[in-house]
Amino acid sequence: MTTMSNEDLKQEILRLTREYSSRVHGQNRPGEDGRPPKFIPGETTVPYAGRVFTEDEVEAAVSSTLDFWLTLGPEGDKFESQLADFLGVRKSLLVNSGSSANLLAIAALTSHKLPAEKRLRPGDEVITVAAGFPTTVSPLLQQGLTGVFIDADPITGNPRCEQLEEAYVPGKTKAVMMAHALGNPFDLSTTLQFCKRHDLWLIEDNCDALGCSYTMSASSPLLADYPKEPRNPDGSLTKYTGSWGDLSTQSFYPPHHLTMGEGGAVSIVRQAALKVLVESFRDWGRDCWCPSGKDNTCNKRFGWQLGELPEGYDHKYIYSHLGYNLKPLDTQAAIGRVQLEKLPAFIQARKDNWQTLRAGLADLEEYIEFALPTHATKWNSDGTFEWDSTGCRTDCSWFGFKMSIRPEAPFTRTDFAKFLDERKIGNRMLFGGNLLRQPAFVQLKHDNPAAIRIIGDMRGADEIMNRTIFIGTYPGLSHAMLTYIIESIQAFCRQSVSSSKLH
Ligand SMILES: Cc1ncc(COP(=O)(O)O)c(C=O)c1O
Repeated sequence: MTTMSNEDLKQEILRLTREYSSRVHGQNRPGEDGRPPKFIPGETTVPYAGRVFTEDEVEAAVSSTLDFWLTLGPEGDKFESQLADFLGVRKSLLVNSGSSANLLAIAALTSHKLPAEKRLRPGDEVITVAAGFPTTVSPLLQQGLTGVFIDADPITGNPRCEQLEEAYVPGKTKAVMMAHALGNPFDLSTTLQFCKRHDLWLIEDNCDALGCSYTMSASSPLLADYPKEPRNPDGSLTKYTGSWGDLSTQSFYPPHHLTMGEGGAVSIVRQAALKVLVESFRDWGRDCWCPSGKDNTCNKRFGWQLGELPEGYDHKYIYSHLGYNLKPLDTQAAIGRVQLEKLPAFIQARKDNWQTLRAGLADLEEYIEFALPTHATKWNSDGTFEWDSTGCRTDCSWFGFKMSIRPEAPFTRTDFAKFLDERKIGNRMLFGGNLLRQPAFVQLKHDNPAAIRIIGDMRGADEIMNRTIFIGTYPGLSHAMLTYIIESIQAFCRQSVSSSKLH
């Protein structure tokens, strides 16, 4: 009997892996890849989001598992540099979730290694937004910082950036940390000018917005800060969200634009010094920056004297921060690398699916208020938008298709959600709605009123909590599923209108 070489054996395992995955993972394929998922209207669930993968990702996972490096290593290094290249940022660091990424971004800015006036200290204020996902906000509260909440706009889902100036307190405000809501960039022009005026950090929570871009008007004074970046023919500058602030974060949990199961990243946009701080907090708080499996990168492993440790104490075991361990496995990065290759197609599918739904539901504006990209004033039936006079533009990589039920509609948001559930159409509220009304935040206001400061009446965040719902735009949706969603919603509205007339 001939013995297979180890490499041939591995290749055979991978061949069988592909065959297996091709047989059993049909429902997870992209909606339009020539082998669309099976769909029986009314019987098959139409998820609002989920893992979209083929045998390629499964092969990458098995191959990495057979290599059994386990801890963040070669695949992680490649993923980090490919993500940084995609975003156009200095460096991206992988972590085990988007929430961990947010925690690290804030923790890094508390470092004693930063200039005193830039360092976040307990009691300092960080401006954030009331509507959205809790872990955009909870890390700053966990660090003993005060969260200053501005309101959100129910149409874009994004912060009302015109309130930033009102939220500012000289000497107290140190940073702004906000999310680009559901794949719609927030007003970066207003936010960046505000941050620049007052010398504040900006952390972009880009967890729901990978692949969105923002165009800064040719007349923006901010453009002087980007002398080397290529301009559009009209002199404006277009860059991905996540590449404008100081730090930005990603989530790679399944509903997001790419997935590795669990996972996330912190990106360091420009200042190299921040990389060492983020890495230190990610990796136990250590002072040493050697990658896993390597020693003595600094060439003076036994040449340091820090804290009250003896001279020559091993740098590998010197801790300059009270850190965490938030690293993912290398196998996750291997999956992520395959997903990154598919990212441009995923982003395009999200845009196309949003337009298909928008066009199919266009005649329902009397009952449903549809989302608009930030800076857009109107959607046109040819798929284009009318824009405001700022000269700034957004290109959305939609996380979901957001709708707000008008108060005068003959049905409520709850009626609508129940109907979608009955039809097996996945739907979600805009995460935590008005976060300030969530039990954890109500408790915090009670326990430590100084931890939260609120700007304005939060009418927008309440509206989002009461009237908003979203359905999927993710690349797993097939044409048949989109048609089913549109026909179902049309039928629901017709039926609600005719029964309201009868009563
Ligand atoms: C805006 C935003 N930030 C952060 C997160 C947290 O990401 P993760 O689930 O990977 O912890 C989410 C989760 O969906 C999110 O929507």
